[in-house]
Amino acid sequence: MTKHIGILTSGGDSPGLNAAIRGVGKACMGHYHMQMLGFRDGFRGLMENRTIALDGNQLSGILTLGGTILGTSREKPHKMLVGGKLRDMTDAIVANYHDNHLDCLVCLGGGGTQKNALRLKEQGLNIITLPKTIDNDVAMTDITFGFDTALGIATEAIDRLHSTAHSHHRIIVVEIMGHRAGWLTLGAGIAGGADVILIPEIPYDVENIAEAIRKRSRGGKPFSIVAVAEGAISRQEHAALMSEGGIKKPVKKKETVKVDAESTKEPELVYAERTLKLAHQLEKLTGLEARVTILGHLQRGGTPSAADRILSTRLGTACADLIDSGQFGVMVAARGQGTEPVLLEEVAGRGNLVPPDHPWVETARHVGTNLGD
Ligand code: F6P
Repeated sequence: MTKHIGILTSGGDSPGLNAAIRGVGKACMGHYHMQMLGFRDGFRGLMENRTIALDGNQLSGILTLGGTILGTSREKPHKMLVGGKLRDMTDAIVANYHDNHLDCLVCLGGGGTQKNALRLKEQGLNIITLPKTIDNDVAMTDITFGFDTALGIATEAIDRLHSTAHSHHRIIVVEIMGHRAGWLTLGAGIAGGADVILIPEIPYDVENIAEAIRKRSRGGKPFSIVAVAEGAISRQEHAALMSEGGIKKPVKKKETVKVDAESTKEPELVYAERTLKLAHQLEKLTGLEARVTILGHLQRGGTPSAADRILSTRLGTACADLIDSGQFGVMVAARGQGTEPVLLEEVAGRGNLVPPDHPWVETARHVGTNLGD
C-alpha cells in the first residue's frame, strides 16, 4: 500500500527549509515510492485544508532557495484566530489529517513547532519533526538548520562594520537575532572578532563594557564593535525580572507589548529600544560616537549555506527512513555526522540556551573579548 505523507513548515522561516522539503520529498517519493502532500502556511493551512500536491517538478530547483515554498505561519493548533477569536482547532486538524488519508505528518519547525507537534501526537497522529531555526535553540539536537547560514550573514556584517567603525573612531553596536538564546551572537562575535559580545545568558554591566572600550582607546584603538543579542539584558533588568518571579520572558517583541496609557511605570523595553539605549549609554560613558545596526530579518533571508543544505538534506532523508520503518512521534536530531530519532516528549518545551561555561564562551574570553560581566 502506498503511504501518504503530509508536510508543513511552521514558525519563522529559515534558510534550508526548501532543502529539507526536497530531502524528505525526494527520499519519500523517489526511494520509497510514497505520495507527498504539502500544507500551506503551517498549521493554519492544515486546519483550512489548503494543500499543494508535491511531485518531482515542485521539488526540483528548490535546494538553493531561501524561505519555504509551502509558506509558513506562527499559528498553533490549540490557539488559532478564527472569526476574531482564539479557538482550539485541534479537532479540525485531526479530521483533515484523516480525510487526506495521511500515514504521517512531517512538521519542519523550531521550539514552538515541537510543542505543537507533541500535542498532535497526543491526539493519535503519526508525527515526525525536523529541527529548524536560525536561533539554534532546539533541545536534543547538535544543531538546527538555518543557524549556519545566519551565522555567516551576521559574521559578514561584523566584518563590514569593522572598517567603518575604524575609519570614524566609533563604537558600532550590532544587534543580532536569536530570541532568548545567544548562539548566533556568540558565534558571529567570535568569528567576526567583535570586541564586546553580549548574550541573554550572561547579563551585562554597562560600566564594565564602557571600561573595556575606554581601555581599547587608551591602547590606541579608539573604535569598538559591540555584538549584542536581541535578548541580552543588563544586570539591573535581570535582577528586576528575578524579583518578579524569575525569567520566563526576558525579552519582548514589539507587537507583543501592550501599552497602558494610565500606567506611571516605565514601559518595558523591547528588542531594538534596549539596543539603542545601550549605544546611547556607551556614547556618554566613553566619549566616543556610537552607531547602531540592527541586522533583523536579513539574517533569515536568502540562499542556505552549503553546511545547511547538507544538514537539511541529511535530516530530510533520515526522516523518510523513519517513516518507512514506521517510527513516529519523534524529532530527527542531528548527532555528529549522523542523525538520531528523539521522542517529542524529550524535546518539547525544553529549549537550548548557551551554558555560561560553554567552550565558545571560554574561547571568547581567552582572546580578550568582553562579555559584559
Ligand atoms: O526564531 C527566529 C527569529 O528570527 C528570532 O531570532 C526572532 O526573535 C524572531 O524569529 C522574529 O520573529 P518575526 O519574524 O515573527 O518577527
